[in-house]
Amino acid sequence: MLRLAVLVSGNGSNMLAILDAYKKELLNNLVPVLCVADRPCKALERAAGWGLETVLLEGKHNGEKLTDALDRQLSERRIDIVALAGWLSIISGKLTRKWTGRMVNIHPSLLPEYGGKGMYGEYVHKAVLDAGKKQSGCTVHFVTDSIDGGKILGQSRVKVLKNDTAESLAARILIEEHRLYPKILADLAVDIRVHHR
Ligand code: GRF
Repeated sequence: MLRLAVLVSGNGSNMLAILDAYKKELLNNLVPVLCVADRPCKALERAAGWGLETVLLEGKHNGEKLTDALDRQLSERRIDIVALAGWLSIISGKLTRKWTGRMVNIHPSLLPEYGGKGMYGEYVHKAVLDAGKKQSGCTVHFVTDSIDGGKILGQSRVKVLKNDTAESLAARILIEEHRLYPKILADLAVDIRVHHR
């Protein structure tokens, strides 16, 4: 078995999709064991409600301190794979390097477009609409010290509709996120197991 930690800051719908996939035995040998939040949030309550161990790293929002606290949590719990699911803090390069190939994120655009610093939440969807794009979507990628810049593991596409608002587009993309993220994690769990043999 491989142990999964989910990192959250917000609503937690992707985390729930991952937990649901686990219950349905769709995550292969990957078992969610920990939810870490960098602020009090709905996702943390949802994780606790589900029965997952939760940790709140509140008050440590500056890069290095947060990274050190996170590092301790992940090693104490012998985590194998880390999934950022709406996590908003920057994790410093020291930790992303330690987790090369084992830390992943989901982003609500077709990276490399509309990623990077400041590109999160509605800013992403507004930028897509302002640019008159015909398509958007979501991307699961490895986390590196370049924000949203790590190797792409999978994408889902969504058509941008004529009357879309940032909100309506975000909602349609989120449905795809919930399909894509568990699938990529399940694949990664197999890859990592094979790799470590
Ligand atoms: C998602 O759109 C995800 O792509 C982005 O943050 C949002 C998190 O939503 N990184 P939720 O907290 O999983 O509902």
